[in-house]
Amino acid sequence: MMGPMRPVIVAGNWKMQTTPADAGELAATIARRTNEPDVVRVLCPPFVCLAAVRDALAADPAGRGVEVGAQNVHHELAGAYTGEISAPMLVGLATWAIVGHSERRRDAGETDILINQKVRRARDARLHVILCVGEQLAEREAGLAEAVVRAQVQGCLDGVEPPSIGDQGSIYHRAPWLTIAYEPVWAIGTGRTARGADAAAMAGTIRRTLGDLGFANRGETTPVLYGGSVTSATIDEFLAEPSIDGALVGGASLQPDEMAGIVARAALTARGRGAQPAR
Ligand code: PGA
Repeated sequence: MMGPMRPVIVAGNWKMQTTPADAGELAATIARRTNEPDVVRVLCPPFVCLAAVRDALAADPAGRGVEVGAQNVHHELAGAYTGEISAPMLVGLATWAIVGHSERRRDAGETDILINQKVRRARDARLHVILCVGEQLAEREAGLAEAVVRAQVQGCLDGVEPPSIGDQGSIYHRAPWLTIAYEPVWAIGTGRTARGADAAAMAGTIRRTLGDLGFANRGETTPVLYGGSVTSATIDEFLAEPSIDGALVGGASLQPDEMAGIVARAALTARGRGAQPAR
């Protein structure tokens, strides 16, 4: 029997790198080097580069298949929040948003309760959400990794309803509204990766938790990505796991050669899993 059809996704998180002057060209170069319609490709530049990336992708025939994402959204819609960006402000600029990245949990003190609110705001603005979860090294060494991630998924999604069916049909045809990125904190930017088998076990934990939250069979159709020091040399181990649907790539996503290698491997996986080319 065939497993549930989930898209294969490669999302690049550029973090606090690139400027409006150079981001568009980098995005177009990556788009040309990764021209694989079977893979959902998303680039997440800094807020100030979103327009440049959007415009550069729209102007390039190879760019039209690449989607644009933000790296964060605020938990409120509008108000006296100096320096912040809300989800409705992203409409027209981005169709995806990363929420709950561990660097924001660490540097901006984001809690699961706050992230739960951000997920709702991003959903209400009709964005695809990439929710990041992952344990610290000490938690893994103490045998607590699965419990920590389960609690994060519960806290960040408790009471969160999917968008209505009509919205899902029109906007979420290539990927569902929610994707979860499992990113062990000790693997981010360290050159150290999790083992494929551990990431696959965590994907199982995540989908069981979604089931417990009432997502029912949507747990099985929710893409789970691995993130943490993914490169063209390390991606295979994760894509070899049927429960892992792609990667959230940080450092390597700024390098067109690396993205070309990662997306080429992801395309083989997508075709092997029976993906229909996107039209
Ligand atoms: P990295 O970052 O690939 O540079 O480890 C991944 C991430 O933070 O999403």
